[in-house]
Amino acid sequence: MTYPTGTPLDVELRSAALIVTLNRPDRVNALSRELIEALGATFRRAAQDPAVRAVILTGAGEKAFCAGADLKERKEMSRDDVRAVVRLYRSEFGVIDSSPKPVVAALNGIALGGGLELALMCDLRVAAAHVTLGLPETSLGIIPGAGGTQKLPRIVGEARAKEMILLGRRLTAEESLAWGLVNRVAPAGTSVVDAALELVAPILGGAPIAQAAALSAIDAGLDVDLATGMQLEILAYERTLVSHDRDEALVAFAEKRAPRYLGR
Ligand code: COA
Repeated sequence: MTYPTGTPLDVELRSAALIVTLNRPDRVNALSRELIEALGATFRRAAQDPAVRAVILTGAGEKAFCAGADLKERKEMSRDDVRAVVRLYRSEFGVIDSSPKPVVAALNGIALGGGLELALMCDLRVAAAHVTLGLPETSLGIIPGAGGTQKLPRIVGEARAKEMILLGRRLTAEESLAWGLVNRVAPAGTSVVDAALELVAPILGGAPIAQAAALSAIDAGLDVDLATGMQLEILAYERTLVSHDRDEALVAFAEKRAPRYLGR
């Protein structure tokens, strides 16, 4: 499949990991309408692409992952235009949120506002040591409008989410790790994309049906009561039970060799 290259989104397939790079260096990788649309189109394509086993989302350069909404574009918009962009965030970020393939944010620098909300749509987050992460919207007279008020408390808990959103508190990489906002901090001397590639290595060789089923069970279960979640788990388990990969795992175990998963 073909993917966009250059500006505002640069996409490259490296082994089975699709590296998706926000690339608007003159605007600190801020989210223009064009960039949001390109992200949605790319993740829709990746979901269908058998060559892609995981996606790594990062930003160009070392300064910023993403400075959030494009405030220059926003300044020219009517209130109705803004409503339309907020709906666009919802639909296109939703594609990332519901990706059947694991998505890792490789936070190469600052992620503020919509930039951090974009990272919250990912399944895992790896940060460079110099990152700053925050949701400063209330200091701009608005609130996070791309899922931040819902996703952040689910990830770091209510009290910490309120501290970040109400106080506009910005976290360092170490604080983000301590709060569970990121899964790893890239070790000194390792680029954050390389650290993310290392993190996803077991995913690239793993069983795609099982990974997609696990993601859907976890994500759906977060929004329902425990009994319903347990039922959802049974439905997701069933999808793995009837897969060839599940049978292959048992045969490989008996033959004392690594399984060869085919994603069927
Ligand atoms: N939208 C559009 N343009 C942006 C932007 C944004 N969100 N953030 C920065 N830029 C632009 C700046 O206006 C500047 O352009 P200019 O050279 O034409 O003046 C350029 O990107 C570089 O930004 P600058 O502020 O000079 O870089 P910096 O390294 O000093 O600071 C930030 C980087 C990201 C910390 C700072 O720009 C910032 O705080 N931006 C706003 C982030 C924000 O509040 N986002 C949440 C929106 S809800």
